Amino acid sequence: MSGIKLTINGLEVEAQPGQTVLEVARDNHIYIPTLCQYPGTTNVGACRVCLVEVENARTLVASCCMPVTSGMVVRTNTERVRKAQRLIVELLWSSGDHNCLTCERNGNCELQDLVYWLKIDKPRFNIDPPGYEIEATNTMIQRDLNKCILCGRCVRACNEIQINEVLDFTMRGSEAKVGPAFDLDYIQSECVFCGECVNVCPTGALTFKQARFAGRPWEMKKVRTTCTYCGVGCQMDLNVHEGKIVSVTGNREYGTPNTGSLCVKGRFGVDFVHHQDRLKKPLLRRQKGGELTEASWDEAIDFVAERLSALKKEYGSDSIAGLSSARCTNEENYLFQKFMRAVIGSRHVDHCARL
Ligand code: FES
Repeated sequence: MSGIKLTINGLEVEAQPGQTVLEVARDNHIYIPTLCQYPGTTNVGACRVCLVEVENARTLVASCCMPVTSGMVVRTNTERVRKAQRLIVELLWSSGDHNCLTCERNGNCELQDLVYWLKIDKPRFNIDPPGYEIEATNTMIQRDLNKCILCGRCVRACNEIQINEVLDFTMRGSEAKVGPAFDLDYIQSECVFCGECVNVCPTGALTFKQARFAGRPWEMKKVRTTCTYCGVGCQMDLNVHEGKIVSVTGNREYGTPNTGSLCVKGRFGVDFVHHQDRLKKPLLRRQKGGELTEASWDEAIDFVAERLSALKKEYGSDSIAGLSSARCTNEENYLFQKFMRAVIGSRHVDHCARL
């Protein structure tokens, strides 16, 4: 299919039909700031931060919603564009309570980054912050609507990525806000606490509660790992500070199988990692009726091999059955059944997911 030719900031570029000006700019490494736009969700043109000049257009246009046309002449960096972007960001800043000193997203906030990028010292407007109470009725997600910029990313992530359909806009005008139906708290609503809304929030309106005061974003070491809760193999980042897991975030760049999304267990069920009762070494009962005591892995594996060989010799292969786990990968489960069939010689092998 032949491409559409257009010009952005004097550079001739080629685009495919259906692409937006923003997509084409990004393909050509031309920066246009955005707030409400989020990959994998509908472009709604809510924040207007991505405004650009299009020759012969009556007004500035939102590049995230504007499809390219042949011969289009676009400018992303004129004084008119910057002035409009500054005004929008100043209004967003003024109409919320964006206190970066105590905000958990300080250093990882898209609004903060834009204020800096647009060189805004302080906003010109004196607007009273909305004065919402911070939601404190659950232990996983902190909702501070005083920091919400109504970009709607959480709404679209909830409805279009996770298809939970819990969040939407409520009220109108200056009282507009985002939340579950009937203005319920998350815990009272149908929310399943997947945390997708927190992952996509560009400000400190939605944050992970267990991460509060546990370390700044720049202090976190990101450790990529595979979720251990089921066999899907979701990829995620553990945010580690001083040897402790502070929070778990999805990463869209890792691609399949989860493309950055997680479920409530993968997202919040990490307490067991540092739990004092967690088994870190094998335990062996060396005598019948004796206490379980710690053993090395070599000792434990030798013990199991000896006992399985003895049982096989005395009672035959059919006396031994094996039960595998849904937490293992396909490859591990394959190896387990192979071990049962080829080494033990038993067909009695099953999987916990069937019980
Ligand atoms: Fe285009 Fe918000 S990013 S309007």
